[in-house]
Amino acid sequence: MTQLPAAQEQPVQGALKPSDSSKALYGGKSTRRITVRDITAAKERGEKWPMLTAYDAMTASVFDEAGIPVMLVGDSAGNCHLGYETTVPVTLDEMTMLSAAVVRGTRRALIVGDLPFGSYQEGPVQALRSATRLVKEAGVGAVKLEGGERSHRQIELLVESGIPVMAHIGLTPQSVNAMGYRVQGRGEEAAAQLMRDAKAVQDAGAFAVVLELVPAELAAEVTRALHIPTVGIGAGPETDAQVLVWTDMLGLTGGRVPKFVKKYADLRQVMGDAARAFAEDVTGGTFPLEEHSVH
Ligand code: KIV
Repeated sequence: MTQLPAAQEQPVQGALKPSDSSKALYGGKSTRRITVRDITAAKERGEKWPMLTAYDAMTASVFDEAGIPVMLVGDSAGNCHLGYETTVPVTLDEMTMLSAAVVRGTRRALIVGDLPFGSYQEGPVQALRSATRLVKEAGVGAVKLEGGERSHRQIELLVESGIPVMAHIGLTPQSVNAMGYRVQGRGEEAAAQLMRDAKAVQDAGAFAVVLELVPAELAAEVTRALHIPTVGIGAGPETDAQVLVWTDMLGLTGGRVPKFVKKYADLRQVMGDAARAFAEDVTGGTFPLEEHSVH
């Protein structure tokens, strides 16, 4: 990895308190982009870290300034940004456009671009062609794809080709038509399969693995068994990292959100109140005032 010369290093602005002596992913050095090697080192230090989804440059810049070290341009953009009902219709063109925006809006975070449904299931060569677009056209530092044992050949070829891969097992939303949205890994055989999937993606060379909607005890066991970090979503407190979908955790998503989501703000209320206040000002003639006018 090429280090920028010191004279060109620009600290990221905002809430993050950089400490050049610290290697911590959150709250640590902020003068260059995080890489997958930093992620590997964090597991060796036993450090926990946060990941958020992002789908546009402005939101991503807020999270970057807050020190979020890894951002996932998830295909959850399907439901949370593009207005689809599931992630299934999301295309590689859409993921490339959204990923490029997130890369442009950030300076420090490692950006992981999701490979959408249909862009890697045909086999390793198709996966390489799709991942190459995300790396070359969008500038992501890594890609994510769903599946354990069933995706190990794709992961192997991407890693051999120099593309870091985050795997995703447990509930895999691209398979919603086959598996529904149900907790995965319950019962002896399902738990054994989840462990085989985790080991398969690690052996194939993945640098991290998302565990979605998996019993907390099983996620803890998988985390202890792997030398790569586990990133939990609905997988209890023992995984190395935690990821949430940003529109869920900031209260922008309308309707019900999954039980595992913690809501840190109520943006839907804040934005709705602001829109109503603007509308009332306009209809009541109190906006714009003299101070908002040019002469
Ligand atoms: O697409 C996505 O946002 C994801 C996360 C929920 C892990 O896959």
